[in-house]
Amino acid sequence: MADITITRPEDARECYRHKALRQAGYDDGEVVMGDAIINLHADEHRKRRRLENRLFRRDTFFSYERELFPEIIEKTVRPYLDQGKADLVDFGHQLMMNLAAATAGVDRPMGTAEETFRLYAYMMNFIEAATLAFFTGDKEAKRQEIQEAMEAFDAEFLEEGIARRKELLAEFEAGNLTEEELPRDVLMILLRNQDKIPMNRESLRREIAFYLLAGAHTSATAFNRVIHNVFKWIEDHPEDIERAYNDRLFLQRATHESIRLQPSSPTAARWALEDIDLKSGIKIVKGDRVVIDLETVNRDKELFGEDAEEFNPDRELPDGAAPWGLSFGQGMHACIGQDLAIGLVFSPDETEENHLFGLVPVAVQTMFLNGCQPDPNNPPEMDDSTTRPYFGKYPVVFID
Ligand code: HEM
Repeated sequence: MADITITRPEDARECYRHKALRQAGYDDGEVVMGDAIINLHADEHRKRRRLENRLFRRDTFFSYERELFPEIIEKTVRPYLDQGKADLVDFGHQLMMNLAAATAGVDRPMGTAEETFRLYAYMMNFIEAATLAFFTGDKEAKRQEIQEAMEAFDAEFLEEGIARRKELLAEFEAGNLTEEELPRDVLMILLRNQDKIPMNRESLRREIAFYLLAGAHTSATAFNRVIHNVFKWIEDHPEDIERAYNDRLFLQRATHESIRLQPSSPTAARWALEDIDLKSGIKIVKGDRVVIDLETVNRDKELFGEDAEEFNPDRELPDGAAPWGLSFGQGMHACIGQDLAIGLVFSPDETEENHLFGLVPVAVQTMFLNGCQPDPNNPPEMDDSTTRPYFGKYPVVFID
């Protein structure tokens, strides 16, 4: 059994789409992801995905971006604007958690800052499950801590939300509520289809915890990196300052380019269930672990040009190349939240009013439209609790 590293785009696409390659990226994170959608395979995966796809449709994304999210963003950012400063790492995670909680179906009945803070602590714990393979401390102790957090999270945040949704469902079935009055979230979809795809409480809990972390962590790290990249870009291209602070499409392109260069999940991994010969001649033997190295795949010079290693929000691409490379995967596990996270590529026959920007670009825009700049007295630092390149703190100030 060997580790096979994939570095070329066409091999990566073939692996993502190969039915005999099974998810291997989260074996260490079982405690949260055991039977969450990301870990299911074949028929089991197809059934769950088909169900959840019903929520993840363009009309839902538009209604989130236009109706649900603006208020959440305003509420989250207001205290920081009032103080005139923020730490992007904390703020990004808080904001993305608030958005991911709405999508996943995690209610906060009290609506207090204290309650949000506790949910935040749970989510940070779940994130540690997803990245446990890269954890530098005692993994077994961490796993135990996460298991306890899962149970406490269920009692505190799921119990009531499940009961509330069941009541709404009964009202709906009795004809007292319309479809539009039901919450549009993952928990609701799963509860509504228990007869077709039954899930026990532990499975429900894992799926919702996974949605919370999948939606929040990837988006929060991307958010931070985009802002950092734009700061660096305008240092070298002062003529673009105006665009950075006013042009929403520029910031969406900067998001796509940042996610290409720094994929939120830099590797994807799969177990080979049988011997496989890739079209390029690479031989994979049953039991091998295939690792798709997205950082290399996404810097392919043939696709992205000679300057593929560099950040360039004005990059021109050949037909068919996605500006974010393969950072959202492909095939059965392709990110269900991609359009929600980064919107669609702007086409000349649309207007900004009917364009889907995506929650990361919208969050980045919120920062720049409010005059966000690096804090001159407080430089950013990296997070040393993980081998992955995450910022540990990133202080910014808001200048009118
Ligand atoms: C910048 C933001 C995001 C990035 C870079 C990202 C990236 C990815 C990638 C690479 C995968 C596939 C992993 C694999 O093949 O092993 C994935 C799957 C997934 N993502 Fe995202 N994601 C983002 C945002 C979101 C959001 C906002 C949500 C939820 C609302 C979400 C939900 C999911 C789910 C549920 C899966 C599993 C799909 C399946 O197994 O069928 N993601 N994401």
